[in-house]
Amino acid sequence: MANLVIVLWTANTERYADILEGVNDTADNLLKAIEAGHEEVAPSTVFAVASILEGAPFINGSPQNTFVPGAIELAERHGAFVGGDDFKSGQTKMKSALVDFLINAGIRLTSIASYNHLGNNDGKNLSSQRQFRSKEISKSTVVDDMVEANSVLYKDGEHPDHTVVIKYMPAVGDNKRALDEYYAEIFLGGHQTISIFNVCEDSLLASPLIIDLVLVAEMMTRIQWKPAHEDGGYKSFHSVLSVLSYMLKAPLTPPGTPVVNALAKQRAALTNIFRACVGLEPESDMTLEHKLFH
Ligand SMILES: NC(=O)c1ccc[n+]([C@@H]2O[C@H](COP(=O)([O-])OP(=O)(O)OC[C@H]3O[C@@H](n4cnc5c(N)ncnc54)[C@H](O)[C@@H]3O)[C@@H](O)[C@H]2O)c1
Repeated sequence: MANLVIVLWTANTERYADILEGVNDTADNLLKAIEAGHEEVAPSTVFAVASILEGAPFINGSPQNTFVPGAIELAERHGAFVGGDDFKSGQTKMKSALVDFLINAGIRLTSIASYNHLGNNDGKNLSSQRQFRSKEISKSTVVDDMVEANSVLYKDGEHPDHTVVIKYMPAVGDNKRALDEYYAEIFLGGHQTISIFNVCEDSLLASPLIIDLVLVAEMMTRIQWKPAHEDGGYKSFHSVLSVLSYMLKAPLTPPGTPVVNALAKQRAALTNIFRACVGLEPESDMTLEHKLFH
């Protein structure tokens, strides 16, 4: 097997880059903008472009929009693999499991209030408004697909109120605190409030995700497919590795394809793709063998 370099961005959160016509909207414009040192091109995008040009998979573990449209187009052009954004380690991981469970159980969430305080360098960096905005966006979109998918509980365009607050509190160091209140309507106009207090060592939650992201990304570079009984060559997966979503807060997906945030669905996608690779059927939880007369 040839040696493969995989690049993973876990440097400081950057501010969101504006998408500007002629600057970062297409692959060619982005390459020109980098050459010209345009200020709207983030350092992480420069690293991503360098990796794409070298054919090294690039994964973004921070929340900002490193993958501007020009970077994605460039990755597609070179058949290079990219994945992102933002490790799904603490509060959001709980949220992407809990919200899916509650909404599927018919519990109509009306508000989600999420507060965090942390005292590491990331917390300090996020106390700057423009950097915080990147995190706010990546943390806020996580319930959207689950809400949109349930047209019984939510009318078109309806969604729970959702707010995310992050404060820098040096005393707690890497020991991040996350407080969440889920408020919901239940049967006959009743209400339910679920309150969660989650204390976690931020870095120790993120590190295993970094290992998994690199391992799965490497594996994806080795998988090729073609329709059964068809001549013609094998193809790879799309450049944007949405299969990494399980480990990521704001999953990047191939342009025009849906984003899945629900944790169980993301896990099932991973499991079933790897089952297919060894010739097994997708996992089914029907367990008919235990439910039927024989
Ligand atoms: N649980 C987690 O720790 C977690 C979860 C999700 C996302 N993240 C994201 O991961 C990133 C890193 O978090 P952290 O707590 O390790 O932050 P940190 O501030 O402790 O470390 C960031 C490092 O990046 C370096 N750096 C800054 N700009 C750089 C550049 N242009 N090139 C190379 N290096 C550069 C800094 O010198 C610093 O050493 C942040 O964006 C954070 O939001 C972390």
